[in-house]
Amino acid sequence: MRLDRPPPAGAAARPGKILLDEKTIAARLDQLAGEIRRDFGGGPLAVIGAMCGAFIFMSELVRRLPLELEIGFLRAQSYGDGTAPAGPVRIIESLEVSVANKPVLLVDDILDSGLTLRALKEYLAARRPARLATAVLLEKSRPRLADIQPDYVGFRLEDRFVVGYGLDFAGRFRHLPYVAELVWDGG
Ligand code: IMP
Ligand code: MG
Repeated sequence: MRLDRPPPAGAAARPGKILLDEKTIAARLDQLAGEIRRDFGGGPLAVIGAMCGAFIFMSELVRRLPLELEIGFLRAQSYGDGTAPAGPVRIIESLEVSVANKPVLLVDDILDSGLTLRALKEYLAARRPARLATAVLLEKSRPRLADIQPDYVGFRLEDRFVVGYGLDFAGRFRHLPYVAELVWDGG
């Protein structure tokens, strides 16, 4: 997680303006699933999600993919101080499905600095998939620290901190059915 400015002392975080509502996201997921179906035919396809942020996006996406699918998860942990771009990324959970010689779709919630997606992609690439594509729900418009461009992008957003639809702030707000800007009250 990364915040551009440290929060004011004593301030409380809450979801503010809704940037993407449930209907808008659902319509875009229909389109993305259509593209993925066209690109991967009837499968098989191993869909690997980055925990925990990808959980809603991934569950909505795979239910739109009537292909032969296998599902697995990875967890990436990055070491930053919370306000600066994150440092090195460590993969802290290993994969339960074998990806060797299979077409693989890596799914994450958001592309920010790009370091997380790059680390996850390298982890999977080392396991020799037949093909490796990446999908993110959100992409922030800001310079990347890692040179990476996902194959499927749901929405491009301005560089601001967002929550909901899987994305959290300090473990909160992941369950919200929409994407909202994080705002601070008081402090
Ligand atoms: P990156 O490595 O900087 O691309 O960061 C990617 C990870 O940081 C994502 O998988 C999210 O977990 C987290 N992240 C980045 N921006 C946001 C945000 O605006 N809200 C919530 N989490 C975020
Ligand atoms: Mg994440």
